[in-house]
Amino acid sequence: MSSPSRQALAKLTPVLTKRWLSPDAWNIGVYERLDGYTALRKALSAHPDDLIQLMKDSGLRGRGGAGFPTGMKWGFIPQNDGKPHYLVVNADEGEPGTCKDLPLMMADPHSLIEGIVIAAYAIRANFAAIYVRGEAVHAARRLRNAAAEAYARGYLGGDILGSGFDLELVVHSGAGAYICGEETALLDSLEGYRGQPRLRPPFPATHGLYAGPTVVNNVETICSVPYIVLGGSAWWKSMGTEKSPGPKIYSISGRVNNPGQYECALGTTLRELIELAGGMQDGHQLKFWTPGGSSTPMLTAEHLDAPLDFESMMAVGTMLGTTAVQVFSDQDDVVYATYRWIEFYHHESCGKCTPCREGNYWMAHVLRRILSGAGTHEDLDTLLDTCDNLLGRAFCALGDGAASPVMSSIKYFKQDYLDYIEGRKEPYFKASELVGAH
Ligand SMILES: Cc1cc2nc3c(=O)[nH]c(=O)nc-3n(C[C@H](O)[C@H](O)[C@H](O)COP(=O)(O)O)c2cc1C
Ligand code: SF4
Repeated sequence: MSSPSRQALAKLTPVLTKRWLSPDAWNIGVYERLDGYTALRKALSAHPDDLIQLMKDSGLRGRGGAGFPTGMKWGFIPQNDGKPHYLVVNADEGEPGTCKDLPLMMADPHSLIEGIVIAAYAIRANFAAIYVRGEAVHAARRLRNAAAEAYARGYLGGDILGSGFDLELVVHSGAGAYICGEETALLDSLEGYRGQPRLRPPFPATHGLYAGPTVVNNVETICSVPYIVLGGSAWWKSMGTEKSPGPKIYSISGRVNNPGQYECALGTTLRELIELAGGMQDGHQLKFWTPGGSSTPMLTAEHLDAPLDFESMMAVGTMLGTTAVQVFSDQDDVVYATYRWIEFYHHESCGKCTPCREGNYWMAHVLRRILSGAGTHEDLDTLLDTCDNLLGRAFCALGDGAASPVMSSIKYFKQDYLDYIEGRKEPYFKASELVGAH
């Protein structure tokens, strides 16, 4: 294992993760001793519109995957409309490889609650919900405890800190479906319906939870808010790049020595992240990797020095996504990895639209056929044709995400597919395992 160079260490920017090493930081007393809830006091003395402007000035972009500007999203909420407004925090974290929101909520749940109160005050919402992934029982428990502590201290409930502002917070557990991370499916699920995406427009900003104006933000986005309130927009913009400012929690997994979360300025490269993560495991050479989960097209060793920010990732034909950096080596099978991802999308497809429901079913079958040595050259065309019918043609972005691993693996590693098809590689599955395979 190699030690990170000073240059790579300098990329570490502990802002949202700064309390992670403090014992019991999830306890409200410890949180308060570590500056907790000071941003809330400052925010409650400001005008809500000034807070929205502050978020716009900071350039904060959503950390849930798409990178939408947060201040602009808050600004879309109509004011003085006499309707109840809602803030919903997306804590579903279902994107394969992503592991940043859960550790944030476990280590520092009050930073999320503090961010929620500030965001709700800014958009004039008196009700907020955290939608937690069903399997994350431990996180839901920790959040409920933290919410109870915050109510007892007057940070939640009626007349918060004597400001006249009221906020009720509900921690809601989902049932563990990837599609419920998609914001409109999440809202349906929260309302008690089956989680399936809604037709847009209208958008949640005007017709969200219970058809009221709603902001849906990711956990990491909301956790960034108190720091921006305290540090100011210029400080936030002093990290990262001009169009992708601020720090970001990269979750790195796979063939590295120290997988985990590394908070660095946006624009850090994979080379630097691998160095921070203790280097590649012995005997492994980087072959392919995802910048932000399986829904972001994979890259190769050629892209080691591409900055991991929203623009630079677009420039190399992929997306920053959730910054779930999954590292695969020359000892990993790219065709098999793609197959496993497509099995995931097939399993998680909500079934509402045909391209995704049928396309993922067939792609899983075709990939399994290739891996069993019974594939044909035509199968590659079938896969690409199916992706063509998914990309931009499915009802929601889950369909686009499913096309990513298939299209990018064929783009960079067609030879690996041909090795199975032309018999140079031992089949992964026996032909008999093809029956009923899905
Ligand atoms: C299939 C699918 C799953 C998603 N899962 C999540 C998720 O687990 N967490 C999340 O914050 N956003 C997820 N998103 C993105 C949300 O729809 C939405 O863009 C995000 O919550 C907005 O928050 P932000 O502006 O703070 O990034 C998902 C999108 C899709 C299409
Ligand atoms: S793309 Fe269609 S079937 Fe797939 S999850 Fe979205 S709405 Fe459901």
